Amino acid sequence: MSQVNGFTQMVAGSAFMTLEQFIIEREQEAPGSKGQFSRLIRDISVAAKIVDRDVRKAGLVDLYGETGDINVQGEVQAKLDLLAHEEFVRALRRGGEVCLIGSEEHAEAIPLLFDDCQGKYVVLFDPLDGSSNVDVNVSIGTIFSIYRIPDDHEGNVTMQSALQCGRKQVAAGYVVYGSSTMLVYTTGAGVYGFTLDPSIGEFLLSHPQIRTPEDGTMYSANEGNYNSWSRGLKDYIKWMQTEDEATSRPYTTRYIGSFVADFHRNLIKGGVYIYPANARNPNGKLRLMYEANPMAFIVEQAGGIASTGHGPILDVEPQALHDRTPLFIGSPRMVEMATEYLRGERVYEG
Ligand code: F6P
Repeated sequence: MSQVNGFTQMVAGSAFMTLEQFIIEREQEAPGSKGQFSRLIRDISVAAKIVDRDVRKAGLVDLYGETGDINVQGEVQAKLDLLAHEEFVRALRRGGEVCLIGSEEHAEAIPLLFDDCQGKYVVLFDPLDGSSNVDVNVSIGTIFSIYRIPDDHEGNVTMQSALQCGRKQVAAGYVVYGSSTMLVYTTGAGVYGFTLDPSIGEFLLSHPQIRTPEDGTMYSANEGNYNSWSRGLKDYIKWMQTEDEATSRPYTTRYIGSFVADFHRNLIKGGVYIYPANARNPNGKLRLMYEANPMAFIVEQAGGIASTGHGPILDVEPQALHDRTPLFIGSPRMVEMATEYLRGERVYEG
């Protein structure tokens, strides 16, 4: 195997570890593990492969376009949104490790009731993030967050009883359906990335122990909203746009409009993704439980920071499944600088 930019490169004929082998190895390190968690990650990876297949052929089999429904977020539901939701629910229901599911595409949490349900896990997910990009061949993704219900929990698990802050996640990950398809996840012991080899239908370990650069020169924000941003944020943006050779400014804007894709690029190359509160989205736009929290867990594990602008995302106490939050996430120096501007500790003087 060869290394480029610190990452293992795919070389024909090399021995790669499959996601399944990786999970089994990890499971053996956890004494007393009954394999439920390993099976859950495998189920998620199978659903991801099915969604990948659907995404790749969407233009050929009438999967582009809308269902004609509006989802719980008040957003137009794309056919692929719904299909991805159904694939993930089906995989998790079949697996039997999960007692409750929460999805962006469903107003209420979905209890998985089997007579013999031993499921200890709650999975919250955005089945297809960035769906406005689906019909135009731009990268999209899936995000998932996993909690474990305490062994002594009594009675049915409801969303209310399952609501916990992001620090309590036991695992989190995302799949990016891009120029290649990658699954990236953490269980709190580093971040690992697996690239799907379509010729054998396996996710192979390609990015062991991902670390995000301390600093970066790219920022991702929808600058169409500039006029409704706070003074502090406008100042930070102005600072990034100001020429300064020593700090390699002006920085570069990179905004795909698919959070997973913007996040993934910034994670690998260094950068910051910003979605603040604004006039149209007074609480921010991104969903706390299945967008911000899982990515915050990943970014912290990779050495980055995720902030609401006032404190760590992972400490926010959720009120409901579909809560929204402002989000500043990425390379630690960039997020720190952004929050200093937001708090008025720095002011742009031109
Ligand atoms: O989850 C919401 C989302 O689609 C993200 O994937 C993306 O980054 C953002 O919204 C785009 O929002 P806007 O179109 O307002 O820039």
